[in-house]
Amino acid sequence: MEAFRLAWLGRKNGRLKLISDAWLKVAPIEAKRLIGQRFNALKVSIEAALSEAENSQVWNLLKSDFTAAALDVTLPGTLRRPGVEHPLVKTMAEIVGVFGRMGYSVGLGPEVETDFYNFESLNFPPNHPARDTQDTLVIADQDNKPLRDRLLMRTHTSPVQIRSMIEQEPPLRLVVPGKVYRNEAEDATHLARFQQVEGLCVDSNITFSDLKGTLDHAMKALFGSSVKTRFFPSFFPFTEPSADMQISCIFCGGKGCRKCKHSGWIELLGCGMVDPAVFQAVDRKRVELGRAPAYDTARISGFAFGMGVERIAMMRYGVSSVGLFYTADMRFLEQFA
Ligand code: PHE
Repeated sequence: MEAFRLAWLGRKNGRLKLISDAWLKVAPIEAKRLIGQRFNALKVSIEAALSEAENSQVWNLLKSDFTAAALDVTLPGTLRRPGVEHPLVKTMAEIVGVFGRMGYSVGLGPEVETDFYNFESLNFPPNHPARDTQDTLVIADQDNKPLRDRLLMRTHTSPVQIRSMIEQEPPLRLVVPGKVYRNEAEDATHLARFQQVEGLCVDSNITFSDLKGTLDHAMKALFGSSVKTRFFPSFFPFTEPSADMQISCIFCGGKGCRKCKHSGWIELLGCGMVDPAVFQAVDRKRVELGRAPAYDTARISGFAFGMGVERIAMMRYGVSSVGLFYTADMRFLEQFA
């Protein structure tokens, strides 16, 4: 293209210059106009040819760039598989969501706890046999500390409820999701590490019917509106009275089947009215930390409950072995996507 430009338009030796010298400049006056017109026409057509060539060269460059970067649209695309929530995370979020819509906030706390928060403040005195039901893993080399300061892996998320009451005055409504640890012989329904959602509601005039109404609503939200609940006497050091809550069997609708051991009912969670001894322990700690006591047992009452996330997930998804949730086997996990 450059050679063409030089050959025709070059200032010194271009043909146009030669033509101009040989014809235009020396033309007799009466021929000047005609020769001038033809000279200009020639110039215009040379320039047009040049700019057309330039344009098509730019286009070709663009085209070759484009081709180099282009995808072969006939190849199968890159498969990006979107991540999905683990079934336990999903179940936990749904439980927390049900209580969230009833105005509960979420509390979180440490998995390594002191004996005070995990046991003592929850009315498990030292050496009390109730501690045997929540045997756990303890952190080594703690023997030189007073018992209440010794570290252990928390056995439930209840210590977070104690921490919350020490921080905040009533009224209080919160759920506490999280990992907990126990010295368990593992089998199809037990693991030494599992997850809980516990809850606490504290105010003046909170009664056992508030507990029943709240949990009944939560179970209907989680398992469907036809599910029924019933409450059996039980024991926890930190609640009085204490109850185990059962739901009508979601597999047979209460008629009786293998899953509910032909009783029509399935035990799902522990609950009860907060024991006054817990409020007293909270207020003693508040005073120790320079805060005003706020949990006068003559005026303040509350209920608490705690459920296992794996157990609920197993029921909702029809999983028969809890260990499957922790295998990271994609063939298992993909079924919940
Ligand atoms: N903290 C109890 C447990 O883990 C569950 C529970 C919570 C029971 C609140 C009653 C009230 O076993």
